[in-house]
Amino acid sequence: PPLGVLINLDDFERVAKRYLPPNAWAYYRSGADDEITTLLNRRSYQRVLLRARVMRNVERIDTRTTILGQQTSMPLFVSPTTLAKLAHRRGECAIAAAIGAEGMIQVVSSSSSMPFEDIKQACAHSDQAFFFQIYINPDLHKTVALIQRVEKLGAKAIWITVDSPVMGKREEDERLKAEIQVGFVQASEQSGIIKEGQQVQGIGLTLRRMLSTRVTWDDLGWIRQTTRLPIVIKGIQSVEDAVIAYEKGVQGIVLSNHGGRSQDTAQPPLLTLLEIRKFAPFLLGRIEIYLDGGVRRGTDILKALALGATAVGMGRPFLYSLSAGYGEAGVRRMVSIMRRELESNMALVGATRLKEVTPQMVNTKLLERD
Ligand code: FNR
Repeated sequence: PPLGVLINLDDFERVAKRYLPPNAWAYYRSGADDEITTLLNRRSYQRVLLRARVMRNVERIDTRTTILGQQTSMPLFVSPTTLAKLAHRRGECAIAAAIGAEGMIQVVSSSSSMPFEDIKQACAHSDQAFFFQIYINPDLHKTVALIQRVEKLGAKAIWITVDSPVMGKREEDERLKAEIQVGFVQASEQSGIIKEGQQVQGIGLTLRRMLSTRVTWDDLGWIRQTTRLPIVIKGIQSVEDAVIAYEKGVQGIVLSNHGGRSQDTAQPPLLTLLEIRKFAPFLLGRIEIYLDGGVRRGTDILKALALGATAVGMGRPFLYSLSAGYGEAGVRRMVSIMRRELESNMALVGATRLKEVTPQMVNTKLLERD
């Protein structure tokens, strides 16, 4: 269908379901076990209600902010995801081009289907900022080498994903045999696990071999020594760990349950944010706090920010909007929908700048009762 007829992110999901190869759809969409968390991530936003302030001049709306000191045209970033080439032949490159044009920031996955060099040099705008996500590899030398390589290439921060010491059980993906037909450069560099043309049973199942079950907070110490870049811990799911991350001196944390793909029935990130507000409010303002999982509406962004988040990320919508041959244009259309929704909802809630979005603008009673 022509892009113009897609007017929300559910429309993009429906198109992706229809046009993606079945194994790509299964791999992208699936959550762990019964997919309760994937569902609750989204529902949690729907349980937060807005309390608008009226009679404010909202003629001019400004959605700009910074993430780790980097400018972004709105408080939404691309969460790291693997294998964008399953959706479109230009894969992560098409996302990068779209995101550069939109003045936003992409977190590139260490399991992306093309090397960071190519994404950056072939597709990015000259002043475009990237962050780079890693898993700590059982082979520490490989992790160090990867961090140093991407630092040299100009990545502005290292995001370390910690919510998947083992891979979640994604059953729809597990049932499908997939032939990997795209290059799989970064991941194979880390672990040599997937080769082009290889038959695998479940894409996620195959990737799990690059995860380390032995990572602890102490590993942060040596990672710090290898780089000067800011460090973000992705996958915080409790206020206790948020406090530890802060004490370890990281610059940011992502409250995330991996889009419900790791542990099923994990609590949604919004509830983790409420825990932080209640038990460790000093964290707000001392480190940057991001959320991802289930963000699909401009109002979702607004609610997370009202409760203290610096920005939010999305994973699947970027993969879906690449599909059906849309590529870069699809991503730009999808992002512009989110932008318009955010702008109009800022006006409706009575905020012209993100600084004016306050906790008083949301009512969390329904969410807390869940
Ligand atoms: C992911 N995610 C992820 N996270 C990460 O740190 N490294 C990775 O390589 C991947 N790969 C990946 C692949 C696919 C297909 C999906 C859907 C997700 C998790 C991702 O960064 C993010 O946390 C979730 O996608 C957020 O949830 P939504 O927006 O998809 O609901």
